[in-house]
Amino acid sequence: DLVRDFQNEVMEFYDTKGRHDMEWRLRFDPYRIVVSEVMLQQTQVPRVAVMYPRFIEKFPDFAALAAAPQTELLAAWQGMGYNRRALNLQKLAVRVLEEFGGVLPEEPEVLAALPGIGPATSCSIAAFAFNRPVVFIETNIRRVFIHYFFSDTAVVDDRDLFPLVEACLLPDRAREWYWALMDLGTALKTSVPNPNRRSRQYVKQAAFEGSDRQVRGALLRL
Ligand code: ADE
Repeated sequence: DLVRDFQNEVMEFYDTKGRHDMEWRLRFDPYRIVVSEVMLQQTQVPRVAVMYPRFIEKFPDFAALAAAPQTELLAAWQGMGYNRRALNLQKLAVRVLEEFGGVLPEEPEVLAALPGIGPATSCSIAAFAFNRPVVFIETNIRRVFIHYFFSDTAVVDDRDLFPLVEACLLPDRAREWYWALMDLGTALKTSVPNPNRRSRQYVKQAAFEGSDRQVRGALLRL
């Protein structure tokens, strides 16, 4: 079973070479997961590793973030870049308090309607905060699937990766599974030249629904 072999290979990599010490993987408090996922959208892991603990210490929960004066918020975000993310994060905190009684919703569709949360981030939050068996693609996940299943394909369309990501998911271990994919994808980055030139990416996840045309081929090849 080649899906099983792939899963084993990914988890074997994770067990031996995964990044188990990252601060945002040690606690599953939804607030902390939201902050780390938004930071990791556009900022490299080493920089987030430095900034994240300070930010959490200064703003430990949704209430603290919602109440922060903007100058203090932006000061704490200093060095992360793309300040709009910090402002959106605060708007998100206000919405969580006002609309959801301070409790972050678990459904990706609901999360994706919050400020600064796109389709991929809504799913990464659902996976890492709540261990939900969501199906999503981001840069590193994409790199893993292209590397393993489409090494002989010139251009790979995300719509063709989606059913494959779904077929390979470990549904009871979504959290670990996606950590593992991200770590393996990061490792492959240095060993595979220009991998992103071969991908065709889509912003809206809805665009993937019902398009399993080429993946049948990929799954048959498995
Ligand atoms: N661990 C949890 N979320 C992550 C992300 N978005 N990138 C890298 N590692 C992570």
